[in-house]
Amino acid sequence: MEDWIHLQDIKATLSESLEGKLIGLCVTGSIACVETHRLARLLIRHGATVQIFLTRAAAELVSPKALAWSTGRPVIQELTARCEHLEFFSGDKRADLLLLAPATANTLGKMAAGIDDNVVMTCLTTAAGNQIPILCAPGMHEPMMRNPAVLRSMKLLKEDGVEFLEPILAEGKQKMMAAEEIAARVLRRLGPGDLRGKGVLITGGPTREFLDPARCLTNPSSGLTAVLLAQEAYRRGADVILVYGPGKVEPPSWITTEKVVTSDEMLKTCLKLADQRKVDFVVAAAAVSDFRPSQAQETKRPTAEGGFELALETTPKIIQALRHALPQAKVVGFKASSSRDDELLAGEAGRYLEKGTVDLMVANSIVEKGLGFDSSRNRYLLCGPEERRESLGPGEKSRLIPELWNRLLV
Ligand SMILES: Cc1cc2nc3c(=O)[nH]c(=O)nc-3n(C[C@H](O)[C@H](O)[C@H](O)COP(=O)(O)O)c2cc1C
Repeated sequence: MEDWIHLQDIKATLSESLEGKLIGLCVTGSIACVETHRLARLLIRHGATVQIFLTRAAAELVSPKALAWSTGRPVIQELTARCEHLEFFSGDKRADLLLLAPATANTLGKMAAGIDDNVVMTCLTTAAGNQIPILCAPGMHEPMMRNPAVLRSMKLLKEDGVEFLEPILAEGKQKMMAAEEIAARVLRRLGPGDLRGKGVLITGGPTREFLDPARCLTNPSSGLTAVLLAQEAYRRGADVILVYGPGKVEPPSWITTEKVVTSDEMLKTCLKLADQRKVDFVVAAAAVSDFRPSQAQETKRPTAEGGFELALETTPKIIQALRHALPQAKVVGFKASSSRDDELLAGEAGRYLEKGTVDLMVANSIVEKGLGFDSSRNRYLLCGPEERRESLGPGEKSRLIPELWNRLLV
């Protein structure tokens, strides 16, 4: 099953998570099918091969020729003597997943009733009969979805094991789930599942420590590392929560996020979550400001008063508090350092290991050019007990973080 040559430019450019996976993308006649190009190409950017099947109503809304270009494969609009439903949903080369996106009210009703009268319905019938996972993203406005017959169809289909991708509210209207979130759900469904049932608490981003309402101490952390850590944990099936300072990178909507600003807020939020949730892993990736003004002013200090000396105090150690609150959890710290030298990096990390504050410290230098803070690249020195060390990178953080989770799970 070779893709057309022009697809090679985008294949697996975001990740290799879906490499070797075949996804049957069944498209029905909701106006949300204008999103199909983006959705198909996102899946391809994660490494998947995508085969599109179109109903007649869908083909009136989107161009089959353009979709064939998007996926680098001919679009299937009717069954022939080749028995495409068996070719793709039976036998050795069967698809790993059938994604029905968008799903119309009509198709949901037919599915629930076991009706099979077009190419998409025959693919659904075959996939369900062969226990191929079916993910279904309804594409319809709220009144259609409130229809008791549609609700009944969805209830029946859920009982039959179909996984629904809930619509979202945007611009005051109900819309099909966004392509990025659909892709994240596909990645999770086809992921290794090695964090399924595990609670993961991640801290990320910088904190701000105010000296007056207009000025603060902070650092250039973009928050990218924490967002990637959370996304990868989600892909592996974890129940993730991100406690996030004001980083430049916006966490995706499907990652449960508690936004905070100061180190004090981060500490309080982490302790509240430690109390409320089952936490198996703590990954402390936040660049918490280590110092804060000893006294903050309530009003903005006028520049006319001239320069002044600022007294600082240290902020609470969030990682220590979490270790204390969650003695059973595996605790991983990130240590940014201005040393370049691995011995010095490991020495700083060692102090936390000796005290038992962390089970693993990920040391990284903030003075190596193009790495670390506010960059998409980094190099990590993993420091474990008994002086175990391993270097990861330098490389793109998006490629290093999955490797890091592999190490955390051994
Ligand atoms: C412009 C247009 C937009 C439509 N949007 C939707 C929609 O969002 N959801 C839906 O369930 N049906 C929608 N329909 C109606 C379906 O296309 C119609 O029920 C059709 O029979 C579905 O066939 P299919 O399920 O085989 O694709 C729309 C029709 C048109 C012409």
